Amino acid sequence: MEIEEIITDLKSLRSDSSYRAAVDCNLELFRALRFPISFFWWSVFRIPRLRKRRTQLAELGDLPFPCWQQSILETLSGFEAEVPLMLTPIREGIVAELERLREVQKKPALLISVGCGGMELERQVMFQLLRARSQAPVVFFGVDSSPAVLDVITAKFRPLVAKKLLRIETASRLSADDLKKFEQKAAAQRFLLVLVSTDVFELSDLPEDSFNLVYHTRLRHHLTPEESRRLDQLSAHLAPKIMELDDLFSIPQIVLAGVFAWRFPAALGAVIFSYLRDRSKKELLSQPVPGWTVSFCRNPIWCHLSVYDKAVAGDQVFGPSG
Ligand SMILES: C[S@@+](CC[C@H](N)C(=O)[O-])C[C@H]1O[C@@H](n2cnc3c(N)ncnc32)[C@H](O)[C@@H]1O
Repeated sequence: MEIEEIITDLKSLRSDSSYRAAVDCNLELFRALRFPISFFWWSVFRIPRLRKRRTQLAELGDLPFPCWQQSILETLSGFEAEVPLMLTPIREGIVAELERLREVQKKPALLISVGCGGMELERQVMFQLLRARSQAPVVFFGVDSSPAVLDVITAKFRPLVAKKLLRIETASRLSADDLKKFEQKAAAQRFLLVLVSTDVFELSDLPEDSFNLVYHTRLRHHLTPEESRRLDQLSAHLAPKIMELDDLFSIPQIVLAGVFAWRFPAALGAVIFSYLRDRSKKELLSQPVPGWTVSFCRNPIWCHLSVYDKAVAGDQVFGPSG
């Protein structure tokens, strides 16, 4: 049974003191997830306490278990494929930006997704562009530190690769020369996807505005407040525009996740902790951040789309972090 396998793996990591606090929190959650009644009591007593120290929480997917990372990424991108509304606000934003770029530049559009995971968003953007018969070449760079991503995206994009509509390349680093090389390759492709397997902060040496757009979905809660600020600064260095989609903290959402994802314990555990780490609508409203435009949507879960445009914001580069 999946829960028992997760518990065994967590116990094996407990001897490493750097993971002990994260392991103990996850052990408690997964033991509670054995039965609906114990999950109910865990929710009542633990959610308020864990919420108070949310910046110290780590999800199962943040721990060094590539097989659980793969399972979580597959389930998350499976949900996003089953319920495309989960990505609609940012998908529409990206497609509109690509249409604008097609009018103003002749070269391929260069987009970079930070913490790209299973890249369901990119799959949906590609299909929307194909349906619209858009011919302009696009390079989708996906940066992710998890070794599990390659297998997930290889399986996901196999049909597009087979039809020669997409080519997938991999890289462990990215330099200005690499960018030029990929841009040239893109001119001969419908879509080029480059998976860069590294920590996003390794990209800080790239020149300013190396990309047309930086975006991320369901990433920020994985970062510490300090990393969150650094990510905004790096993103504003790398592109003139940033888009972010993330969920919002809400207890009813956690309960709903329990109902709908009960059959997928690894993903459910990750989703519960990620909601606990997310910012609330109240926080985002009470701490408006200069340069960022925030809109809220329910699709069917509460999320926000935040957009930062360097041309409008000038030097104000502070993320809606917290
Ligand atoms: C919850 S998943 C979201 C995946 C995808 N964006 C989505 O919405 O389906 C977060 C992803 O961010 C990646 N990640 C977290 N911190 C990162 C970092 N510092 N650099 C690169 N990737 C990171 C994780 O490996 C994970 O795949």
